[in-house]
Amino acid sequence: MAKVKTTFFCQNCGAQSARWIGKCPSCSEWNTYVEEVIQSAETSGAWRQGMKAEKIAVPQLISEIPVGDEERIRIPDKELERVLGGGIVPGSLILLAGEPGIGKSTLLLQVALQLKEGKVLYVSGEESGQQIRLRAERLGMKKTSTFVLAETSAENIFRHISEMNPALVIIDSIQTLNTSRIESSPGSVSQIRESAAQFQRYAKESGVPVILVGHITKDGTVAGPKVLEHMVDTVLQFEGDRHHVYRILRASKNRFGSTAELGIYEMQGAGLREVSNPSEVLISEHDESLSGTAIAAMMEGVRPMLIETQALVSSAVYGTPQRSATGFDLRRLSMLLAVLEKRCGFRLGAKDVFLNIAGGIKVEDPAIDLAVVCAILSSGEDKPVHSKTCFAAEVGLSGEIRPVSRVDQRIAEAAKLGFKQIFISKYNMKSIGKERTHDIKIVPVLKIEEVFDALFV
Ligand code: TYD
Ligand code: MG
Repeated sequence: MAKVKTTFFCQNCGAQSARWIGKCPSCSEWNTYVEEVIQSAETSGAWRQGMKAEKIAVPQLISEIPVGDEERIRIPDKELERVLGGGIVPGSLILLAGEPGIGKSTLLLQVALQLKEGKVLYVSGEESGQQIRLRAERLGMKKTSTFVLAETSAENIFRHISEMNPALVIIDSIQTLNTSRIESSPGSVSQIRESAAQFQRYAKESGVPVILVGHITKDGTVAGPKVLEHMVDTVLQFEGDRHHVYRILRASKNRFGSTAELGIYEMQGAGLREVSNPSEVLISEHDESLSGTAIAAMMEGVRPMLIETQALVSSAVYGTPQRSATGFDLRRLSMLLAVLEKRCGFRLGAKDVFLNIAGGIKVEDPAIDLAVVCAILSSGEDKPVHSKTCFAAEVGLSGEIRPVSRVDQRIAEAAKLGFKQIFISKYNMKSIGKERTHDIKIVPVLKIEEVFDALFV
């Protein structure tokens, strides 16, 4: 009988320690260490019990390793395919992480139902077979080769896998799995790590890709997928505001492709719809121009898109003015307001300022600055910005208009969508290609005052 071994694990980041500690030295969280029973690792993975003899790896000359003619598995979902870098690589382990209720199960079930070739095994530890069937019907299920298994024991799952030889395995979710090789409860760090390690070995040795779903919670107290990020080949993040319809899929790690790609979906009554032209949905159509809105030509990864920023500036009723921002960093908003106040002489100190980015999308591209500033000025002056005008520039601390990357692509996207003029930094003029074919007026500017004069005077 092997001796029972225990270790303390940080439930947030998975760090290990021989004794209990209050503050995790690796992720600085407090009170996250929990004692878990671990057993000494056996030499073979559990999945092999139902499989053929073990293979022993030998060193090989890199040029002589057979590449195989296995191709990536094509998926009908173009957004997901692009984010993955073109289909699913055989033998890869993919983690789809996101907050509960964001649509992870919906996305994967949809992909499973669409796949034409081979069997798909959809393992759910959260929903019953019946619930999944109902959902599949909502998603417009047709003839399909998707098998559903409501099971949480890794050993049992591997038993079924070895019988049915699927072409793709989906595990929803890794937090519900448990393996009998570890004695701690499902969802704890050591269970997650051990179950994921078994699927990793299975994927690598059998060549069958495995997609794991991982929940993240806002406070991060539940064992987070942080532990998993090191083990998997690709980490996909599914994000968005649950109360809005748009969802963004991005790869935060990808061994087989770029992490700059991004997919956009719209959550509808009948599942997720791919949004192939994001600009069209992120700009609201008004016939007359409204004050307080300005359009930014921003980049999400390598994809240019136009997005509407909306601001509301009103006199503060209570003593301290309120500042609030949705989809935009509040500190950056405060900085832009300070720049407007100090460098440009706009009196915003006694005003409430509310800022909103359309579609519930979080924007990190600094090129949206100028549009934010113009939306604020437009609301403050109560004069609309012309609806066929857009902006692509960063605003510096001294009120200077700074250049942004890939300005050509932004201009091309704006022109494609029928915009008539775009404000950019004068410093960007050098980086614009000479031979331009689009019909759009480029307005180079250096200071906020110039933009103000051009728009509102
Ligand atoms: P779900 O895929 O269950 O989220 P997760 O697996 O990430 O926890 O989806 C959750 C939400 O999606 C749910 O609140 C309802 C919504 N939804 C739709 O709007 N339309 C649909 O067709 C489906 C299936 C779900
Ligand atoms: Mg789910």
